[in-house]
Amino acid sequence: MIAHVSTFTLAGLEPHRVTVEVDLRNGLPSFTIVGLGDRAVRESRERVQTAILNSGFKFPPNRVTVNLAPASLRKSGPGFDLAIACGVLAASGQVPADRLEGLAVFGELALGGEIRPGRGVLAVAEGVREAGLDGLVVSVERGEEAALVEGIAVHGVGSLRQAASVLRGVRPEDRAEHRGSRGPRRLRAASERVVDLADVRGHASVLGSLTVAAAGGHNLLLTGPPGTGKTMLARRLPGILPPLSAAEALEVTRIQSVVGLRAAGSLVAERPFRAPHHHISASGLVGGGAVPVPGEATLAHHGVLFLDELSEFSRDALEALRQPLEDGRVAIVRGQQTAIYPTRIMLVAATNPCPCGYLGTDRCRCSEPELARHRRRLSGPLLDRIDLQVHVARPSAEELRGPAHCTSAVERERVIAARERQSDRLAGSPATCNAHMDAAQVRRLVRLDAEAEGELWRDYDKGALSARGHQRVLRVAQTIADLAGSATVRRGHVLHALGLRRDGLAEAESA
Ligand SMILES: Nc1ncnc2c1ncn2[C@@H]1O[C@H](COP(=O)(O)OP(=O)(O)OP(=O)(O)O)[C@@H](O)[C@H]1O
Ligand SMILES: [Mg+2]
Ligand SMILES: [Zn+2]
Repeated sequence: MIAHVSTFTLAGLEPHRVTVEVDLRNGLPSFTIVGLGDRAVRESRERVQTAILNSGFKFPPNRVTVNLAPASLRKSGPGFDLAIACGVLAASGQVPADRLEGLAVFGELALGGEIRPGRGVLAVAEGVREAGLDGLVVSVERGEEAALVEGIAVHGVGSLRQAASVLRGVRPEDRAEHRGSRGPRRLRAASERVVDLADVRGHASVLGSLTVAAAGGHNLLLTGPPGTGKTMLARRLPGILPPLSAAEALEVTRIQSVVGLRAAGSLVAERPFRAPHHHISASGLVGGGAVPVPGEATLAHHGVLFLDELSEFSRDALEALRQPLEDGRVAIVRGQQTAIYPTRIMLVAATNPCPCGYLGTDRCRCSEPELARHRRRLSGPLLDRIDLQVHVARPSAEELRGPAHCTSAVERERVIAARERQSDRLAGSPATCNAHMDAAQVRRLVRLDAEAEGELWRDYDKGALSARGHQRVLRVAQTIADLAGSATVRRGHVLHALGLRRDGLAEAESA
């Protein structure tokens, strides 16, 4: 007889349903797996056979053929083991086949029959729901993760024996039952990781710019001498961004699950913050590899990607980041397989204004060629994607002794209010914040009053603004108006935005 078992494989982050067909036939004993599997899938034979025997079942003394359908879909990884084993047990009458109809089975087997926790279980569970199946048999360690998906029954099992019990409809005592219906839980993140803007001394205007960046989703460049708090400021940005929506939290958790960054059964509650080292390659940054894996830009999806020491990153890496920044996604093509990874990020970059870091003061010892080289490295492909460029000067002694200017909680409320205005205005468009408005949206949606209009064109006529710069100023001015709760963009908002646009590098040089 032929047994059918549903399971899933991941292409990038997307689950694809795979049917494992197991056929038993009289003839010389053999065990063949077909259906475009990678090496791990082919090696599944040895694990499955040994695990079946070590679990006290019989391996059928027949010609056993396993087909992974559809054959056109490339399948990778050891996650098919459990489904193949269940198929063999069902085809040989050792477990009832009918229970397998509404279930999907996913997991890697150890030789002793234990089930290993695998990666990407959340994505698999989402596939189970989308396919309209009612349950998933998965390793007990991943049960809670799978149960984050509503509306499916999750059977967490520790071994092939326990999986067989589920198929027989009996409840082994040590089996964990999860019902994916209690809805996504939000767990507070461990408090030790919480950093607050209240730690920052001085920098009143820089902090204002940080809030503008967060409110509009604008990319941000921080320049300034060493030790003034650039890294410190960047790390506090996720804390003033709006909380992840339920859908976003699921997406972020799915990404972290696929790359094996987390194993806990809770949803990610905080926006990601990724700070890759400047030695990172282009594929490390945006994803790639023979079997495509997501890069830092995807790990930072819905959060902040922080490039500290921007001038030290390779040109290739920065060049590769351009398109993902623009599109919010990256496509990795390998042979016939294309993996799409989301990259909706806020980019924050930091750099010293010159190689020694003290440009603009008499401590600077950089020569003219050194300065020119530094400037060239920064004027690279990314800078025109950065709406806000802010100079972080050394705070005075008085400022360092003084009180904090703000707290993350208060700034976050302002950001949330400003984002609400934006989502009302942008309803029905893929953009969710001002930074993502395209040129047509800027023209149609940004309303300047007469004075503001006059101010902007005066600047443009002076030749101080390029056409692109003009667009940028409008986007940022709109965010400033949103923070102020103003329905129109006024002259003050435009002036503020023009100030923020002034190149942080140029400012340092003239300081
Ligand atoms: N404005 C500030 N208020 C409070 N503490 C500060 C401030 N600036 C710097 N510090 C302290 O100095 C440490 C170093 O700051 P940080 O690493 O953010 O500097 P940086 O500007 O990134 O320097 P570099 O250019 O060397 O990377 C911080 O961890 C913090 O303890
Ligand atoms: Mg730093
Ligand atoms: Zn210098």
